[in-house]
Amino acid sequence: MGFEEKFSLRGKSMIITGASKGIGAGVAGLMAELGVRLYLAARGKDALEGVCAAIREKGGEACPYTVDLRNVADIRRCVDKIARDQGKIDILFNNAGMGKPIPALDLEESDWDEMMDLNLKGMFFFSQAVAKKMAATGGGKIINMSSQASVAAISGETIYCASKAGVNQMTKVLAYEWAGKKITVNAIGPTFVYTPGTAERLDDPAFRAEVLKNIPLGRVCSMEDVAGTVAFLASPASDMLTGDFILIDGGWTIT
Ligand SMILES: NC(=O)c1ccc[n+]([C@@H]2O[C@H](COP(=O)([O-])OP(=O)(O)OC[C@H]3O[C@@H](n4cnc5c(N)ncnc54)[C@H](OP(=O)(O)O)[C@@H]3O)[C@@H](O)[C@H]2O)c1
Repeated sequence: MGFEEKFSLRGKSMIITGASKGIGAGVAGLMAELGVRLYLAARGKDALEGVCAAIREKGGEACPYTVDLRNVADIRRCVDKIARDQGKIDILFNNAGMGKPIPALDLEESDWDEMMDLNLKGMFFFSQAVAKKMAATGGGKIINMSSQASVAAISGETIYCASKAGVNQMTKVLAYEWAGKKITVNAIGPTFVYTPGTAERLDDPAFRAEVLKNIPLGRVCSMEDVAGTVAFLASPASDMLTGDFILIDGGWTIT
């Protein structure tokens, strides 16, 4: 393989979870520009079909797959269907996740279950189901969506921060266990990204100023910033990286 080819994703297949909107949908559009065949998963059928249609209109390849990541039986059904329909899965971008700013003293048990079930349990069981397919077809690459909040304390985000720290450690153990199956597992940690989910807070000038004060590079993360790191971790150029966590935080955590 020539060096240029090491950065090519053309013809590779990639599942992206949480791809009906936000970062998942944005990264899917950019991966399509690199010639990746996309299998996009989330609960919202209509929204997923809209994202896929927009990709296909521009000449890309994308198929929607509904799944509720809080339901392990549904995860297994979804992954079996993707493998049956599409064959080999080269890359999994475990992107789906949620946060909910609530002061720690006000958190309820249901908040804990809601965030942990999606951010950690759902990610684990989706990875397990896909890793079984990858192991049977010669390996693959798994990229887990963590956050800068896995290493920096964000006030009001106790459960979110704990779940993302869990993602980092889960990434390391899975990387260790699955290395022998030729499956690499890495995590990425963006700072704030402007999405429908963060728009309301980032559009508030006081909140935005507070965020930017913490980012030496002076801006929040763009979709291209996230997609660039995903593309690297998905490509053969990163074949020697596993169990790693790459921050995309513009320097927030330098100090
Ligand atoms: N935005 C940021 O500033 C930022 C920064 C760092 C890290 N992150 C991480 O990046 C990821 C995406 O964030 P985002 O801001 O793009 O979020 P978002 O706009 O709220 O999108 C979340 C996605 O997850 C899907 N989802 C939610 N619950 C689900 C479930 N039970 N089963 C299947 N899919 C489900 C949603 O689709 P449906 O509702 O259709 O199911 C949607 O596609 C998350 O893991 C987040 O923690 C975000």
